Amino acid sequence: MMEKKTLLITGGAGFIGSHVIRLFVNKYPGYKIINLDKLTYAGNLENVKDIQDAPNYEFVKGDIVDDIFVLELFNKYKFDGVIHLAAESHVDRSISNPTEFIKTNIVGTVNLLNAARDIWKGNIEGKMFYHISTDEVYGSLAEEGLFVEETSYDPRSPYSASKASSDHLVRAYFHTFKLPVVITNCSNNYGPNQFPEKLIPLAINNIKEKKPIPIYGKGENIRDWLFVEDHANAIDLVFHKGTVGETYNIGGNNEWTNIDLIHSLCKIMDKKLEREEGESAKLITFVKDRAGHDLRYAIDSSKIQKDLGWEPSLQFEEGMDKTVDWYLANSEWMNHILSGDYEKYYTEQYQKR
Ligand code: NAD
Ligand code: DAU
Repeated sequence: MMEKKTLLITGGAGFIGSHVIRLFVNKYPGYKIINLDKLTYAGNLENVKDIQDAPNYEFVKGDIVDDIFVLELFNKYKFDGVIHLAAESHVDRSISNPTEFIKTNIVGTVNLLNAARDIWKGNIEGKMFYHISTDEVYGSLAEEGLFVEETSYDPRSPYSASKASSDHLVRAYFHTFKLPVVITNCSNNYGPNQFPEKLIPLAINNIKEKKPIPIYGKGENIRDWLFVEDHANAIDLVFHKGTVGETYNIGGNNEWTNIDLIHSLCKIMDKKLEREEGESAKLITFVKDRAGHDLRYAIDSSKIQKDLGWEPSLQFEEGMDKTVDWYLANSEWMNHILSGDYEKYYTEQYQKR
């Protein structure tokens, strides 16, 4: 018989959350899936419009920082599981406005933990609180080495400090209150539906519009890129097969300096837009570096590979190809974003550089 579960997924109107919602709604018709999202600038119901009428899906607009609202929601739905993705997620915004990050990423997470604790007390059988975190909590690597699950935390931006704090609290609720939790720390995601404040969609859009591509510093910083659907598949696996109390690192084994990544993107876009080779690369513009810019992130994901059998399915070239095609085919999605508050953010963020 198909298992019945009521699941709360927070942040499901955002980039990664929307891919997780789609996967779960389609793969688990017997589950009831509640998408809780505040619809901040980064939340967009267009990201989930293909599944919005599915019988096993419901959207609730709300703020995880509101503790009374969160508790009432848990009491109403009696969730069996929580997959917590809602967050303020952009490092640059955390530099200009740290407080929002403290509220959503720390206080919001504690509100969810308290509510789960409240409704699960005495009955944790089959329950799971899954906290989605980032490799940025581990700090910055030099040229050698990889982040493993035991790497000491050393967050260096308000964003990563707020995520680190929430990770510590999730672990504290496991140790102190026996709340069944699991955490994953993932590297940089890319793919369809990513908000254009992030490097890859920002560059795709600027290349298309023939606008300068802003590269911080010398472009020597290194990130480990993973296609978003591979992250969603890992989340499915960890939610169902992960061991309570454990942490799993997730990464693409796919390191690029920003400048090499953008050169490769320029080549792909020249071909797709039928421009002369080298034309898009002329748009590359070096701008003032990000404050406290972490040099390198790189993940050792051997634990999740060995224990749960996960591995990335897409090669980077294929993932980038799919991503660029999606943005070129969905200019309406981008235009809706560009016509809102984003223009003001973009001007403020880049005119000072
Ligand atoms: P995103 O910014 O695209 O989406 C965040 C979503 O959370 C939005 O829909 C937003 O409306 C919602 N939200 C924000 N504040 C809220 C609040 N107070 N109450 C309810 N909803 C709220 O983020 P993303 O890139 O999809 O990241 C999702 C999660 O994954 C985050 O926890 C992030 O730290 C983590 N993560 C992201 C990456 C990445 O590369 N993007 C990598 C590793 C981990
Ligand atoms: O590592 C996981 C993290 O990846 C997630 O936890 C974050 O939520 C997510 O935003 C991402 O953080 P980054 O800071 O690495 O991503 P971003 O796309 O902002 O930047 C990627 C790299 O590109 C970084 O070295 C900064 C640089 N950059 C970024 C922007 C927006 C530029 O050079 N120019 C830009 O305009």
